Amino acid sequence: MRAANLSAMRIGILASGSGSNLQAIIDHFAASPARDAGFVALVASNRADSGAMARAQAAGIFTHHIADFNDGPSILTALQSAGVELLVLAGYLRLLPAAVVVAYTGRMLNVHPALLPSFGGHGMYGLRVHEAVLQAGAKISGVTVHFVSAEYDRGAIAAQWPVPVLQDDTPQTLAARVLAVEHGLYPAVIEAVAARTLALGADGRSKGSLPAHSAFAMHDAKPFLR
Ligand code: GRF
Repeated sequence: MRAANLSAMRIGILASGSGSNLQAIIDHFAASPARDAGFVALVASNRADSGAMARAQAAGIFTHHIADFNDGPSILTALQSAGVELLVLAGYLRLLPAAVVVAYTGRMLNVHPALLPSFGGHGMYGLRVHEAVLQAGAKISGVTVHFVSAEYDRGAIAAQWPVPVLQDDTPQTLAARVLAVEHGLYPAVIEAVAARTLALGADGRSKGSLPAHSAFAMHDAKPFLR
């Protein structure tokens, strides 16, 4: 693996599942120009046997097993020991302790497989989201990348991308179409956030001083729009 750009943002990723978004992020930041904005310094998971952990290890990325997902201080210690400046949730299926949310406010992103604020909130994950979209008869679903706040799926929206709902869709077919868009949009938005934070200088890096609203728009995700 090529040495990371020392001034690039140190990205930490929390993931519990198969890790397909994690893989997309790893691949995105392995190449220019994204590698100038950030690199994946740590992958942490509450599931040692998850696909996400296996993918991180295969990529030679430092990993951490979260033994107790309610233990905020020890999660924070792991993140801070790896120097994580930007925290990315990629299918992390546990509520983060308040201490972590507070420490990374304005510097923590999540991806949701629908257009928030619809079809989000407690219990809305995995196929349940797509079942609800189909049940409602929605014609458009999509992907939302948002900042993480104390409330499930309610933080400021960084970017959204629409995905059509087709007449014959099952939750599985819709999930697959949405996931493919996640893989393009999420890394591009993370890069835009990392680049914007770099531009803010030392304060932005250490204090999470990114403005919550209007900091980004879809057009910031330039690599995705090619
Ligand atoms: C994705 O659908 C994402 O929207 C949600 O969790 C899922 C993670 O999938 N937050 P994967 O592990 O990245 O494949």
